[in-house]
Amino acid sequence: MEQKQHCFDECVFIILGATGDLARRKLIPAIYKLIASGKLCRFALLGVSIDKTSMQEVVQQARQHIKSVDACVWERLQENLYYYQMDFHDAAAYQGLQRTIETIEQTHRIASNRLFYLATMPQHFAVITQNLGRHDIVHKHTASKKTVAGTWSRVVYEKPFGNSLKSARQINKAIARVFDEDQVFRIDHYLGKELVANIALARFTNRVFEPLWNNKHIDSVQIVLSEDFGIEGRGGFYDAYGTLKDVVQNHVLQIMALVAMEVPEKFTAHHLRDAKAQVLAKAKVGAAIFGQYDGYLQEKDVKPDSTTDTFTALKVLINNRRWRGVPFYLKAGKYLNKNEASVHIKFKMVKCLLDFCPMDSNYLTIKIQPNEGFYLELNVKAPGVFDQVVPVNMNFAHSTLFGPNTPEAYEVLLADVIKGDHFAFVRADEIDYSWKIIDRVEKSKGTVYPYAKGSAGPKEVSQLDKDREIRWRA
Ligand code: BG6
Repeated sequence: MEQKQHCFDECVFIILGATGDLARRKLIPAIYKLIASGKLCRFALLGVSIDKTSMQEVVQQARQHIKSVDACVWERLQENLYYYQMDFHDAAAYQGLQRTIETIEQTHRIASNRLFYLATMPQHFAVITQNLGRHDIVHKHTASKKTVAGTWSRVVYEKPFGNSLKSARQINKAIARVFDEDQVFRIDHYLGKELVANIALARFTNRVFEPLWNNKHIDSVQIVLSEDFGIEGRGGFYDAYGTLKDVVQNHVLQIMALVAMEVPEKFTAHHLRDAKAQVLAKAKVGAAIFGQYDGYLQEKDVKPDSTTDTFTALKVLINNRRWRGVPFYLKAGKYLNKNEASVHIKFKMVKCLLDFCPMDSNYLTIKIQPNEGFYLELNVKAPGVFDQVVPVNMNFAHSTLFGPNTPEAYEVLLADVIKGDHFAFVRADEIDYSWKIIDRVEKSKGTVYPYAKGSAGPKEVSQLDKDREIRWRA
């Protein structure tokens, strides 16, 4: 028996771009997990794309990305699948889309709650949005005041959200004509990761952190998103974006905003997003180093003379009272020697009282992945010696305490959309500020230095900060 009180709102998921990588690898497995959790009780899944296929086929391809498949849950998914083939730029095809959704809602007797997931390239966002509005497939409403029937329409935009400030603004304009901001979910899946969601809470609920979180006590911050693999056959996409736009504009800047934000007035999505936006508004890039791994130009669908970055390092300064003078070093890249996403807060040195100096600074490392957790480096007395210290680690490994089965980011975020919760989604003004930062960097982009696969990136990264030496922690 279904436990109605635990069920999410019934709804139809409409994935636009259903035959793409994201749907197969992430979205369908996430929907499977939501069914398995028992919370997604009444639903249907409609895939939409230009390809001639069936949703059964698409879901079959997604199966390999689900860790262990339960036959009953799989059957539940299979019973609720639909596919509609269309060209997103063909206005007439939207009438057919509307009819298909209505038929599904009638067949399954599902209330008309519609969750649109735009898993497409951003150049399709505006045209899809306009047509959804124009053909009455969605209705504008606020969170508290839904449609006359009390149902909702929500829309999720996958990243990257545009490829420049100008394109992002055009998309946001199209969105504002059709949707209320309450209906819009700009996704950044890093915000759904357990340890990223932990940054603000850990900071604001621990007296041992919060009073020290400023330029009096913090020397510098590193935010690293290193990957030991390449572009995974996504040459066409990657060559147009590069690391700067693929992960820095979104994941890395969002993490920086969470680390650097002021205490929000209240812990609500609205206040949290205000606080993040204020950081992004005050951030200025002081220096940038770009790299490209050897062999990138031979990748499929990459231009033979491409200068696209597969490695980016930025020195960012946040011009406010809390952070003035504290560099934030951001680094991301493909085919590096590590596979790690982490934040490293370096505290200032204490005054040296001992003959044996200098000691090491304290470091707080927030490991986003792998080995999720908080790691604090302290100085303790070396055993058997009176006046020497050694650095030691105090570790909180998330999985040791809470078990290994924390939900995947997309599962968390899809559940949030069904609940109408905006905490882990990016608001239009944050997108605007991030693109302003990235556009400026791109305009002044200099040499793209080569680096060997499996290395720490181009050696020039050591010159990122002319004023001091950086000891990269990852
Ligand atoms: C995506 C980028 O947004 O994030 C990829 O497009 C990158 O290039 C990926 O590999 C990293 O996400 P995760 O969750 O695998 O660390």
